[in-house]
Amino acid sequence: MVIRLTNPSKMATSMSSWRGYARVFMRRRQKILERCLQTTSNSSLSKPEKSTFYVSTPIFYVNAAPHIGHLYTALVADSLTRWKQLKGIPTFFATGTDEHGLKVQQAAEKGGVPPKVFCDEISNKFRELFKKYDINYSTFVRTTDEAHVDTVHYIWNLLNEKGFIYKDVYKGWYAVSDEAFVSDKDVKEVTTKAGEIQKVSAESGQPVVWMEEENYMFRLSQFKPQLQEWIDTEVIQPSHPFFKKIVQSTLDNLTDLSVTRSSDRVSWGISVPNDPSQKIYVWLDALTNYLTVTGYPGKDYHSYWPADYHVVGKDILKFHAVYWPAFLIAADLSLPKKILCHSHWKVDGVKMSKSLGNIVDPVDCMSKYTMDGVRYFLLRQGTPQNDADFNEKRIVEVINNEMVNTVGNALNRISSKAINPEQLFPNPSTDVLLTKFTEEDRQKLEELYTLADQVDRFYEDGNVYLALETLMKYLFWANKIVNDHEPWILVKDAAAKEHLDTVIYVVMETLRVCGILIQPVVPSFSSRLLTRLGVPDTERLITHSQVKIHPTSPNYVQTLNPLDSVLMQRLKYKR
Ligand code: ME8
Ligand code: MG
Repeated sequence: MVIRLTNPSKMATSMSSWRGYARVFMRRRQKILERCLQTTSNSSLSKPEKSTFYVSTPIFYVNAAPHIGHLYTALVADSLTRWKQLKGIPTFFATGTDEHGLKVQQAAEKGGVPPKVFCDEISNKFRELFKKYDINYSTFVRTTDEAHVDTVHYIWNLLNEKGFIYKDVYKGWYAVSDEAFVSDKDVKEVTTKAGEIQKVSAESGQPVVWMEEENYMFRLSQFKPQLQEWIDTEVIQPSHPFFKKIVQSTLDNLTDLSVTRSSDRVSWGISVPNDPSQKIYVWLDALTNYLTVTGYPGKDYHSYWPADYHVVGKDILKFHAVYWPAFLIAADLSLPKKILCHSHWKVDGVKMSKSLGNIVDPVDCMSKYTMDGVRYFLLRQGTPQNDADFNEKRIVEVINNEMVNTVGNALNRISSKAINPEQLFPNPSTDVLLTKFTEEDRQKLEELYTLADQVDRFYEDGNVYLALETLMKYLFWANKIVNDHEPWILVKDAAAKEHLDTVIYVVMETLRVCGILIQPVVPSFSSRLLTRLGVPDTERLITHSQVKIHPTSPNYVQTLNPLDSVLMQRLKYKR
């Protein structure tokens, strides 16, 4: 069930009409509560036909432990999924590990362990990391799973039967680290630190090796017109010239694609059906995971496929925007609805990568900055269109300025025993709002109920940083209200009780609405915040952010809950 975002402020734009609307709001609130109850129970029912919102992350190579870059992609997908859930939409969120191919084979050899043992260990690290960071995935696929191998064989046979596969001698450059073929014009020479000349991929900077062997080829080039048409429908988000260029240049130079490697060189992979001398190319193997998780070719896959969003880094855009749709068109399957591409996290201006060894360990970060702190920082600073720089001084600044000094401070200032001895979420006074608050502040208070509409597109398009920027503006404003009205003075004057209650109400209402809308980013922090405000678990959906907490009903009393721990600890920067 899709809940349409509405604009309740249109119902009551002027404060003078508040009292008149009180009853309307009461009824409206009741209706919304009923609707929310329905959606909550709906979402646990068996999946209806493709009402499920399917989001995927890439499946990550297990050549080394996960880093902040992988966590970031998982967080983008997680926050999008959680946003959909707040709308009451059933979701399916798939992630996992990519375990075959030369890159992993070589890493296992280097580690001196059998490949499967090596894969088990690193795959587990991804799973554990996602658990630690509360990544709420529905399924975790491994390409070494039997079900996946079956799906890859099925797809292979389908492409073969339809005449899209042929045998040929492949000659060309190959970047093992990217598991990618590189055309002559995309190879350049660099001088290594040791003074040697080395050929590398111009795109990724990774070394290339010459390969020449008999392979099976896929007739990729014949799909150019359909691919062009699909790309032109703006499936790649955001619509950024750089992303377009990556895809267009691949399309402009489209050749057929080698889709196997000789088993002599690549032993760690899925064998071609009826030809064990060849292993299936790791990208054909890996991309198929997006179907495996849907149960394909079982008929239920229709409930999930096509994927709504493949979230990917720009390094693998070409595989998702060119190879993947070509395989799907060839197999007569529908195409994903959107590819949500993001840029990279760098350290001191250099892309973080397992191969380069300049990784930031997310487990280590969590012990320093907490789970919510790291989630907040990555989603606040990472953008789809520009690379972000990982800087620990900046993390401390962002967390202290926004989570501690803005959200935490607003909460502490109006919930302390000194200001709020009865520990209540009080009712506002319309008279006070009309006489003691500016027109601008009243307007801002009403706008709170349209905040969900404002941040909706940002969450949907993976521009989480813009959603956070928007919410922060209102939270800064809540602190300004405290400064302007000085509740520590009001509390000393019994005659100013209504004024004090109204100030507390305005700040708490801002925290409540923003607390609901920030849940996808910082689930545990927002849960502590909403619990402190006395907001029950059942009143934390988007629809609840669109209505007033207690529509000027004098009988409605909401009490605060105590917190067992601080909302967010102030951090110190340690070098
Ligand atoms: O490419 N900044 O796996 P991979 C942001 N197995 N995101 C980053 C990043 C960084 N510095 N580094 C990695 C593969 N990522 C294939 C995918 S899918 C069918 C197969 C994230 O382990 C980003 O999402 O190299 C990037 O696209 C992905 O991890 C690559 O992970
Ligand atoms: Mg990579």
